[in-house]
Amino acid sequence: MGQHRFKGDKVTKRQILRIIFVLFGILVILGAASLVLFITVFDATELDILEGEDTFYHSPSGDSPAVTNEIEEKVSIINSEETIRNEEIFGKLNNYSTVIVIQVHKHVTHLQNLLKSFQDADDIKDVLLIFSHDFFDEELNRLIKSIKFCRVMQIFYPHSIQIYPNVFPGMDPDDCTPNMNEQEALQKKCRNHYIDRTGKYRHPQLSQVKHHWWWKANRVFDLAKLETYDGWVLFLEEDNYVLKDFLYVLKLMKTAIKYSCRNCKVLALSSNSNNEKSSHHMGNYKVAITNRLSNLGMAFNRELWIEITKCKYSFCFYDDHNFDLSLRNVFRTCIPNAQHLVLYASRVFRLGSCVSRYRIGKCGENVNLAKVSKLVHDSTDYLFPERLHLISKQYNLSSRSYGRWGDPRDHALCLGMTIK
Ligand SMILES: *[C@@H]1O[C@H](CO)[C@@H](O)[C@H](O)[C@H]1NC(C)=O
Ligand SMILES: *[C@@H]1O[C@H](CO)[C@@H](O)[C@H](O)[C@H]1NC(C)=O
Repeated sequence: MGQHRFKGDKVTKRQILRIIFVLFGILVILGAASLVLFITVFDATELDILEGEDTFYHSPSGDSPAVTNEIEEKVSIINSEETIRNEEIFGKLNNYSTVIVIQVHKHVTHLQNLLKSFQDADDIKDVLLIFSHDFFDEELNRLIKSIKFCRVMQIFYPHSIQIYPNVFPGMDPDDCTPNMNEQEALQKKCRNHYIDRTGKYRHPQLSQVKHHWWWKANRVFDLAKLETYDGWVLFLEEDNYVLKDFLYVLKLMKTAIKYSCRNCKVLALSSNSNNEKSSHHMGNYKVAITNRLSNLGMAFNRELWIEITKCKYSFCFYDDHNFDLSLRNVFRTCIPNAQHLVLYASRVFRLGSCVSRYRIGKCGENVNLAKVSKLVHDSTDYLFPERLHLISKQYNLSSRSYGRWGDPRDHALCLGMTIK
C-alpha cells in the first residue's frame, strides 16, 4: 500500500510538473501574442498620429475666439502670397544674394536694434530678409514695413499659441499643466499624461520655439519664390545684433570651406551664445573647423537642409525643447562625421538676457546693448579682415538633453511640418 501510494504520489508529482510545464508554455505563447498585439496597436496609433491632417492638432476642444480666427485667416493669406517688398528697388533675388531668416516673437525693442545694425552693414542691399513670426502684431508689422534698405518678406508660423490659445499646440484646459507633478496630475485627472524624461509635462511656450524653428526652416526651403535659389540661408533671432562686416566675413567663410573643408555643413558667425567678449578678441581671425555646432548666426544651404529632414526623427523625437540641442542631436546621431566652420571673433551678438534661454518669462530689454555698443565701437580697426586663420578643434559631444519634449502630439506636429 505504502509503496503504491508512494508510486501514486510520484505520478501526481510528475503530472503536476507536466501541468506546470504546459501552463508555462501557454503563458509564454500568450505573452508573445500580446506583445505582438501591443506592438501592432502601438504602431497603428503612432501611424494615425503621424498621418493626421492639420486638423488633428487643433481639433480636441471648443471654439477659438473670433479674433484668433481673424488672425488665422490673415496669416494664411500672407503665407500664400509670398510677397517680397522692395524688389522694385533692389531687383530679383539671385544666387549671389544672401537670405537671412529672423525668428520673431514680440520684442520690438530688440528687433529695432537688430534692424539698426543691419542698416549699417555692408552689402545689406543684396539681402532678402525673411521675418518669421509666431505672433501677429500691427506694431511689429509697421516696423518691418518701414524697412527700405533691402528686400523683405514676412512669414507666419501657422500653429502658434496666439491662434490656438485653448487647444493644442496652445494650452488645452484639460491638459496637465507644465508645473504639475505626476501625483497632482493623477488627482486633477488631467488629460495627456505624457511626461518627459525628467517627469515633466509639456510647456506650450517652450515647445513653440522649437516648433517655430523647425517650421520656419522647412518653409523657407519650400517657398515658391526661393525655388531656384541655391545660395546660403543665415538664421538669426530677434534679439541678435550684427557687426558691419558680417556679410563680408560670411563670404570669406564660404570661400574657406570651398577650398579647405568640403565636409563642413554649417557656418556659424559666433562661437557661442553668450559672448560679450572684449574687443581684442576681434583681432583674432581664427575660425575653427569643429564637430560642435554653435547656435548663434548659423548659415547653411538647401543641400544640408534636405539631409537634415531625412533625420527628422532625430530632431522631432529627441526629448529636448531646445532647437539647437535637437539639431546637435541630428548631427551626433544621424549625419556622421559632420564638421562645421565656427568664427571665434563673433559677428553676431545676443542682446537679450532672458532668465530662460528662450525669451519666455522675465526678459531684460537691452541689458547687453551698452556692452555690445562699446565692443562695436572698439572693434572698428579689426573689421574686414583680409583672411581667416583656420584651425581644427574637436570635442567629445555631449548627449545631455533638457526634456520638455515627451508629448507625442509635439512629436507628431514636428514630423508633420517636415517637407517631403
Ligand atoms: C541658381 O543657380 C542654379 C544653377 O546652379 C540655377 O538653376 C538657378 O536658376 C539660379 N537661381 C537664380 C535665382 O539665379
Ligand atoms: C574624449 O574622451 C576620451 C575618452 O573618454 C578622452 O580620452 C579624450 O581625452 C576626450 N577628449 C576631449 C577633447 O575631451
